[in-house]
Amino acid sequence: MTRKFSGEQLVIATHNQGKLEEIRHLFEPFKINIIGANQLNITEPEETEDSFVGNARIKAHFSAKMSNLPSLADDSGITIDALNGAPGVYTANWAETSGGRDFVYAMEKTHNALSEVDAPYPRSAQFRCTLVLAWPDGHDEVFEGVIEGSLVWPMRGENGHGYDPIFLPNGYSETFGEMNRWEKNKISHRADAFSKLLSGCF
Ligand code: IMP
Repeated sequence: MTRKFSGEQLVIATHNQGKLEEIRHLFEPFKINIIGANQLNITEPEETEDSFVGNARIKAHFSAKMSNLPSLADDSGITIDALNGAPGVYTANWAETSGGRDFVYAMEKTHNALSEVDAPYPRSAQFRCTLVLAWPDGHDEVFEGVIEGSLVWPMRGENGHGYDPIFLPNGYSETFGEMNRWEKNKISHRADAFSKLLSGCF
């Protein structure tokens, strides 16, 4: 049986400000004190697994152990059909530069990789999100969400984070970078995983 969350405090096991903001927004209707991992000085563990669920588990369990509080981790990324699912779990790595993460660079890299294989249009892709809620005793619950779309070029919009400006969700005329956060939060991969988490554990 799925374990229910019964506390008042929940640690979000991320150092990604964009994700933290989105998750905070999604939890707004609940009376839960949301704490970012960096507020507790919890370091980032190395993500050594080759799946979203594997890496989300590492982050959630590490944070639950360090904080002694239930912790929620999100591992997410974009999978591109014409690139056989890349960058997938390496989505954030594609943004690495000597000066830190640069998502304009990552989006250019993505576009160049698609040009190299002469990928046909529409360039179908998915944003995927795995949420793991872990408790200090080692128990966890896993929820997965997805949104289907295609990649556009050039980048469109200043909103959101990461690869949002090149992701056009199916059935919409605005990219995630053009949508406001309420619109995105209704349909995103994170919203999908989140609604499963809410019905399972809250
Ligand atoms: P990780 O889950 O922290 O390993 O990294 C996931 C990466 O996927 C992020 O750094 C973003 O680049 C990308 N990503 C995940 N969710 C979104 C989203 O909602 N919009 C844009 N990019 C995202």
